[in-house]
Amino acid sequence: MVRKGFAVTSFAPAKINLALHVTGQHENGYHLLDTLVAFADIGDRVTLHTERGSALRVTGPGRAGVPASDDNILRKVAARFWTQDEALSIDLEKHLPVASGIGGGSADAAAAYRAMKALRTWTKRQRQDAPGREDTDALFQIGADVPMCVLSEPARVQGFGEKIAPIKDFPVLHAVLVNPGVAVSTPKVFAALQDRVNAPMTALSDPLTAVTLMDWLQAQRNDLQAPAITLVPNIEDVLTRIGDTQGCRLARMSGSGATCFGLYGARDEADQAAEAVIACRPDWWVRSSTLTGQDLVAPKPL
Ligand code: C5P
Repeated sequence: MVRKGFAVTSFAPAKINLALHVTGQHENGYHLLDTLVAFADIGDRVTLHTERGSALRVTGPGRAGVPASDDNILRKVAARFWTQDEALSIDLEKHLPVASGIGGGSADAAAAYRAMKALRTWTKRQRQDAPGREDTDALFQIGADVPMCVLSEPARVQGFGEKIAPIKDFPVLHAVLVNPGVAVSTPKVFAALQDRVNAPMTALSDPLTAVTLMDWLQAQRNDLQAPAITLVPNIEDVLTRIGDTQGCRLARMSGSGATCFGLYGARDEADQAAEAVIACRPDWWVRSSTLTGQDLVAPKPL
Protein backbone atom coordinates (compact mmCIF):
# COMPACT_ATOMS: atom_id res chain seq x y z
CA MET A 1 0.00 0.00 0.00
CA VAL A 2 1.43 3.34 -1.04
CA ARG A 3 1.29 6.27 1.39
CA LYS A 4 -0.65 9.10 -0.22
CA GLY A 5 0.00 12.78 0.31
CA PHE A 6 3.77 12.51 0.38
CA ALA A 7 6.63 13.21 -1.92
CA VAL A 8 9.99 11.50 -1.66
CA THR A 9 13.16 13.16 -2.87
CA SER A 10 16.13 10.94 -3.54
CA PHE A 11 19.65 12.17 -4.21
CA ALA A 12 21.44 10.71 -7.24
CA PRO A 13 25.15 11.21 -6.58
CA ALA A 14 27.70 11.20 -9.38
CA LYS A 15 29.54 7.87 -9.63
CA ILE A 16 33.30 8.02 -10.05
CA ASN A 17 35.26 5.02 -11.32
CA LEU A 18 38.54 5.60 -9.47
CA ALA A 19 40.01 2.67 -11.43
CA LEU A 20 38.44 0.46 -14.09
CA HIS A 21 40.03 -2.64 -15.59
CA VAL A 22 38.43 -4.58 -18.44
CA THR A 23 39.30 -8.22 -17.76
CA GLY A 24 37.43 -10.05 -20.53
CA GLN A 25 34.41 -10.19 -22.78
CA HIS A 26 31.47 -12.58 -22.51
CA GLU A 27 29.96 -14.18 -25.60
CA ASN A 28 26.88 -11.95 -25.05
CA GLY A 29 29.13 -8.97 -25.90
CA TYR A 30 29.24 -7.50 -22.39
CA HIS A 31 32.64 -6.93 -20.84
CA LEU A 32 33.93 -8.26 -17.55
CA LEU A 33 35.02 -5.41 -15.33
CA ASP A 34 36.99 -4.87 -12.17
CA THR A 35 36.35 -1.35 -10.90
CA LEU A 36 36.59 0.73 -7.74
CA VAL A 37 33.73 3.21 -7.44
CA ALA A 38 33.08 6.09 -5.05
CA PHE A 39 30.25 8.63 -5.01
CA ALA A 40 30.36 12.42 -5.01
CA ASP A 41 28.49 15.01 -2.96
CA ILE A 42 27.08 16.48 -6.17
CA GLY A 43 24.39 14.91 -8.31
CA ASP A 44 20.81 15.00 -9.54
CA ARG A 45 17.62 14.92 -7.50
CA VAL A 46 14.60 12.73 -8.22
CA THR A 47 11.29 13.54 -6.54
CA LEU A 48 8.32 11.20 -6.76
CA HIS A 49 4.75 12.32 -5.99
CA THR A 50 2.01 9.74 -5.52
CA GLU A 51 -0.93 12.05 -6.19
CA ARG A 52 -0.18 14.00 -9.35
CA GLY A 53 -0.89 11.92 -12.45
CA SER A 54 2.02 10.48 -14.43
CA ALA A 55 4.06 13.44 -15.66
CA LEU A 56 7.84 13.42 -16.03
CA ARG A 57 9.24 16.92 -15.56
CA VAL A 58 12.92 17.68 -16.10
CA THR A 59 14.43 20.87 -14.67
CA GLY A 60 17.91 22.06 -13.71
CA PRO A 61 21.01 23.25 -15.54
CA GLY A 62 21.73 19.82 -17.14
CA ARG A 63 18.23 19.25 -18.53
CA ALA A 64 19.22 19.67 -22.21
CA GLY A 65 19.65 16.25 -23.82
CA VAL A 66 17.53 14.36 -21.27
CA PRO A 67 14.75 12.51 -23.10
CA ALA A 68 11.43 13.39 -21.41
CA SER A 69 9.68 10.61 -23.34
CA ASP A 70 8.99 6.90 -22.87
CA ASP A 71 12.71 6.29 -23.58
CA ASN A 72 13.66 8.01 -20.35
CA ILE A 73 15.34 5.59 -17.97
CA LEU A 74 13.06 6.80 -15.14
CA ARG A 75 10.03 5.59 -17.10
CA LYS A 76 11.68 2.16 -17.38
CA VAL A 77 12.14 2.02 -13.61
CA ALA A 78 8.50 3.04 -13.05
CA ALA A 79 7.30 0.45 -15.59
CA ARG A 80 9.16 -2.28 -13.73
CA PHE A 81 8.79 -1.25 -10.08
CA TRP A 82 5.54 0.73 -9.86
CA THR A 83 1.97 -0.53 -10.12
CA GLN A 84 0.61 1.03 -13.29
CA ASP A 85 -2.81 1.95 -11.91
CA GLU A 86 -1.27 3.97 -9.06
CA ALA A 87 -0.54 7.64 -9.80
CA LEU A 88 3.11 8.58 -9.86
CA SER A 89 4.69 11.73 -11.19
CA ILE A 90 8.42 12.23 -11.41
CA ASP A 91 10.47 15.41 -11.13
CA LEU A 92 14.08 15.15 -12.23
CA GLU A 93 16.37 18.02 -11.25
CA LYS A 94 19.31 17.47 -13.58
CA HIS A 95 22.74 18.77 -12.65
CA LEU A 96 25.13 16.15 -14.07
CA PRO A 97 26.09 16.18 -17.76
CA VAL A 98 24.45 13.39 -19.78
CA ALA A 99 26.47 10.48 -21.26
CA SER A 100 29.52 11.58 -19.31
CA GLY A 101 30.91 8.54 -17.45
CA ILE A 102 29.74 9.54 -13.97
CA GLY A 103 26.47 7.66 -13.63
CA GLY A 104 23.98 10.20 -14.89
CA GLY A 105 20.99 8.19 -16.04
CA SER A 106 22.00 5.18 -13.92
CA ALA A 107 22.19 7.34 -10.81
CA ASP A 108 18.75 8.81 -11.61
CA ALA A 109 17.29 5.34 -12.15
CA ALA A 110 18.80 4.16 -8.86
CA ALA A 111 17.44 7.21 -7.03
CA ALA A 112 13.95 6.56 -8.45
CA TYR A 113 14.15 2.92 -7.32
CA ARG A 114 15.17 3.99 -3.79
CA ALA A 115 12.37 6.54 -3.68
CA MET A 116 9.79 3.96 -4.83
CA LYS A 117 10.96 1.62 -2.11
CA ALA A 118 10.78 4.42 0.46
CA LEU A 119 7.23 5.27 -0.60
CA ARG A 120 6.22 1.66 -0.07
CA THR A 121 8.08 0.88 3.13
CA TRP A 122 8.35 4.41 4.49
CA THR A 123 11.68 3.72 6.08
CA LYS A 124 12.32 7.44 6.49
CA ARG A 125 15.99 8.22 6.88
CA GLN A 126 17.01 4.71 7.82
CA ARG A 127 19.33 2.96 5.43
CA GLN A 128 17.39 0.67 3.16
CA ASP A 129 18.26 -2.99 2.76
CA ALA A 130 20.31 -3.78 -0.31
CA PRO A 131 18.07 -4.91 -3.18
CA GLY A 132 17.48 -8.67 -3.45
CA ARG A 133 18.61 -10.82 -6.36
CA GLU A 134 15.43 -10.35 -8.41
CA ASP A 135 15.49 -6.55 -8.11
CA THR A 136 19.24 -6.46 -8.84
CA ASP A 137 18.71 -8.48 -12.04
CA ALA A 138 15.89 -6.15 -13.14
CA LEU A 139 17.93 -3.03 -12.30
CA PHE A 140 20.90 -4.43 -14.24
CA GLN A 141 18.65 -4.91 -17.29
CA ILE A 142 17.74 -1.20 -17.06
CA GLY A 143 21.44 -0.25 -16.98
CA ALA A 144 24.64 -2.04 -16.00
CA ASP A 145 25.60 0.68 -13.49
CA VAL A 146 22.19 0.97 -11.83
CA PRO A 147 22.73 -1.69 -9.08
CA MET A 148 25.97 -0.05 -7.89
CA CYS A 149 24.26 3.36 -7.94
CA VAL A 150 21.42 2.01 -5.77
CA LEU A 151 23.94 1.42 -2.98
CA SER A 152 25.98 4.55 -3.79
CA GLU A 153 28.69 3.42 -1.41
CA PRO A 154 32.39 3.01 -2.15
CA ALA A 155 32.70 -0.49 -3.57
CA ARG A 156 34.78 -2.86 -5.63
CA VAL A 157 32.55 -3.99 -8.47
CA GLN A 158 33.18 -7.02 -10.67
CA GLY A 159 31.41 -9.23 -13.19
CA PHE A 160 29.47 -7.09 -15.65
CA GLY A 161 28.77 -4.59 -12.88
CA GLU A 162 26.46 -6.71 -10.73
CA LYS A 163 28.97 -8.16 -8.19
CA ILE A 164 29.22 -5.34 -5.66
CA ALA A 165 31.43 -5.52 -2.57
CA PRO A 166 30.99 -2.33 -0.46
CA ILE A 167 34.13 -1.12 1.30
CA LYS A 168 33.64 0.02 4.88
CA ASP A 169 35.66 2.92 6.33
CA PHE A 170 36.68 4.14 2.89
CA PRO A 171 38.90 7.24 3.16
CA VAL A 172 37.32 10.59 2.31
CA LEU A 173 38.69 11.89 -1.01
CA HIS A 174 38.60 15.39 -2.48
CA ALA A 175 38.16 15.72 -6.21
CA VAL A 176 37.70 17.98 -9.18
CA LEU A 177 35.40 16.73 -11.93
CA VAL A 178 35.82 18.12 -15.44
CA ASN A 179 33.73 17.42 -18.54
CA PRO A 180 34.58 19.06 -21.88
CA GLY A 181 30.93 19.15 -22.99
CA VAL A 182 31.09 16.18 -25.36
CA ALA A 183 28.60 13.32 -24.86
CA VAL A 184 30.27 9.91 -25.24
CA SER A 185 28.57 6.69 -26.34
CA THR A 186 29.56 3.87 -23.97
CA PRO A 187 29.08 1.09 -26.59
CA LYS A 188 31.35 3.01 -29.01
CA VAL A 189 34.10 3.27 -26.38
CA PHE A 190 33.91 -0.47 -25.64
CA ALA A 191 33.95 -1.15 -29.41
CA ALA A 192 37.14 0.95 -29.77
CA LEU A 193 38.92 -1.03 -27.03
CA GLN A 194 42.06 -2.69 -28.44
CA ASP A 195 42.77 -5.18 -25.68
CA ARG A 196 39.79 -6.81 -23.99
CA VAL A 197 41.65 -9.12 -21.60
CA ASN A 198 43.66 -7.14 -19.08
CA ALA A 199 44.94 -7.92 -15.60
CA PRO A 200 42.43 -7.32 -12.77
CA MET A 201 43.15 -4.66 -10.15
CA THR A 202 45.56 -5.74 -7.44
CA ALA A 203 44.34 -6.34 -3.86
CA LEU A 204 43.37 -3.10 -2.13
CA SER A 205 46.00 -1.73 0.24
CA ASP A 206 45.63 -2.72 3.88
CA PRO A 207 45.30 -0.63 5.99
CA LEU A 208 43.26 1.57 3.67
CA THR A 209 44.07 5.23 4.31
CA ALA A 210 43.93 8.23 1.99
CA VAL A 211 47.71 7.87 1.50
CA THR A 212 47.79 4.10 0.84
CA LEU A 213 44.72 4.38 -1.39
CA MET A 214 46.40 7.05 -3.49
CA ASP A 215 49.52 4.86 -3.93
CA TRP A 216 47.32 1.92 -4.86
CA LEU A 217 45.28 3.98 -7.35
CA GLN A 218 48.44 5.17 -9.07
CA ALA A 219 49.26 1.54 -9.84
CA GLN A 220 45.81 0.91 -11.42
CA ARG A 221 44.27 2.22 -14.66
CA ASN A 222 41.12 2.99 -16.55
CA ASP A 223 41.28 0.69 -19.56
CA LEU A 224 38.55 2.73 -21.30
CA GLN A 225 40.62 5.92 -21.22
CA ALA A 226 42.74 5.19 -24.31
CA PRO A 227 39.80 4.12 -26.54
CA ALA A 228 37.77 7.12 -25.34
CA ILE A 229 40.64 9.45 -26.31
CA THR A 230 40.66 7.97 -29.83
CA LEU A 231 36.98 9.04 -30.10
CA VAL A 232 37.26 12.35 -28.19
CA PRO A 233 40.86 13.67 -28.32
CA ASN A 234 39.77 16.57 -26.07
CA ILE A 235 39.91 14.17 -23.10
CA GLU A 236 43.71 14.32 -23.24
CA ASP A 237 43.54 18.11 -22.87
CA VAL A 238 41.19 17.71 -19.89
CA LEU A 239 43.63 15.31 -18.21
CA THR A 240 46.56 17.67 -18.84
CA ARG A 241 44.68 20.66 -17.39
CA ILE A 242 43.75 18.70 -14.28
CA GLY A 243 47.25 17.23 -13.90
CA ASP A 244 48.75 20.74 -14.05
CA THR A 245 46.73 22.02 -11.07
CA GLN A 246 48.51 22.49 -7.78
CA GLY A 247 48.30 19.53 -5.39
CA CYS A 248 46.87 17.10 -7.97
CA ARG A 249 47.85 13.56 -6.97
CA LEU A 250 46.09 11.65 -9.71
CA ALA A 251 44.26 12.62 -12.92
CA ARG A 252 42.14 9.96 -14.63
CA MET A 253 38.98 9.49 -16.70
CA SER A 254 35.83 8.05 -15.07
CA GLY A 255 33.83 5.25 -16.69
CA SER A 256 33.66 5.55 -20.48
CA GLY A 257 34.22 9.33 -20.27
CA ALA A 258 34.43 12.06 -21.08
CA THR A 259 34.41 13.28 -17.45
CA CYS A 260 37.84 13.15 -15.82
CA PHE A 261 38.73 13.63 -12.17
CA GLY A 262 41.68 14.91 -10.20
CA LEU A 263 42.31 13.87 -6.59
CA TYR A 264 43.67 16.23 -3.90
CA GLY A 265 44.67 15.98 -0.24
CA ALA A 266 42.18 18.61 1.00
CA ARG A 267 38.92 20.22 -0.07
CA ASP A 268 40.39 23.71 -0.42
CA GLU A 269 43.02 22.34 -2.82
CA ALA A 270 40.24 20.79 -4.91
CA ASP A 271 38.28 24.10 -4.82
CA GLN A 272 41.35 26.05 -5.98
CA ALA A 273 42.04 23.51 -8.71
CA ALA A 274 38.47 23.87 -9.97
CA GLU A 275 38.91 27.65 -10.12
CA ALA A 276 42.18 27.23 -12.03
CA VAL A 277 40.55 24.96 -14.65
CA ILE A 278 37.54 27.29 -14.99
CA ALA A 279 39.91 30.24 -15.52
CA CYS A 280 41.48 28.43 -18.53
CA ARG A 281 38.32 26.80 -19.87
CA PRO A 282 35.14 28.61 -18.79
CA ASP A 283 33.21 26.57 -21.39
CA TRP A 284 33.86 23.23 -19.60
CA TRP A 285 31.72 21.74 -16.81
CA VAL A 286 33.92 21.89 -13.71
CA ARG A 287 32.98 21.01 -10.12
CA SER A 288 34.89 20.35 -6.92
CA SER A 289 33.51 17.59 -4.74
CA THR A 290 34.11 15.45 -1.69
CA LEU A 291 33.61 11.74 -2.23
CA THR A 292 31.90 10.55 0.91
CA GLY A 293 28.75 8.84 2.24
CA GLN A 294 25.48 10.58 1.34
CA ASP A 295 22.05 10.97 2.88
CA LEU A 296 20.25 9.40 -0.06
CA VAL A 297 16.51 9.57 0.63
CA ALA A 298 14.78 12.50 2.26
CA PRO A 299 11.00 12.09 2.52
CA LYS A 300 8.87 15.16 3.09
CA PRO A 301 5.14 15.90 3.30
CA LEU A 302 3.61 17.52 0.22
O1 C5P B 1 23.80 -1.24 -19.52
P1 C5P B 1 24.22 0.06 -20.10
O2 C5P B 1 23.19 0.62 -21.04
O3 C5P B 1 24.66 1.02 -19.07
O4 C5P B 1 25.51 -0.26 -20.96
C1 C5P B 1 25.83 0.49 -22.09
C2 C5P B 1 26.67 -0.36 -23.03
O5 C5P B 1 27.96 -0.51 -22.49
C3 C5P B 1 26.16 -1.75 -23.29
O6 C5P B 1 25.20 -1.78 -24.30
C4 C5P B 1 27.44 -2.46 -23.69
O7 C5P B 1 27.73 -2.17 -25.05
C5 C5P B 1 28.50 -1.77 -22.85
N1 C5P B 1 28.84 -2.52 -21.63
C6 C5P B 1 29.69 -3.60 -21.73
N2 C5P B 1 30.03 -4.30 -20.60
C7 C5P B 1 29.56 -3.94 -19.40
C8 C5P B 1 28.70 -2.83 -19.27
C9 C5P B 1 28.35 -2.13 -20.42
O8 C5P B 1 30.14 -3.96 -22.82
N3 C5P B 1 29.92 -4.64 -18.31
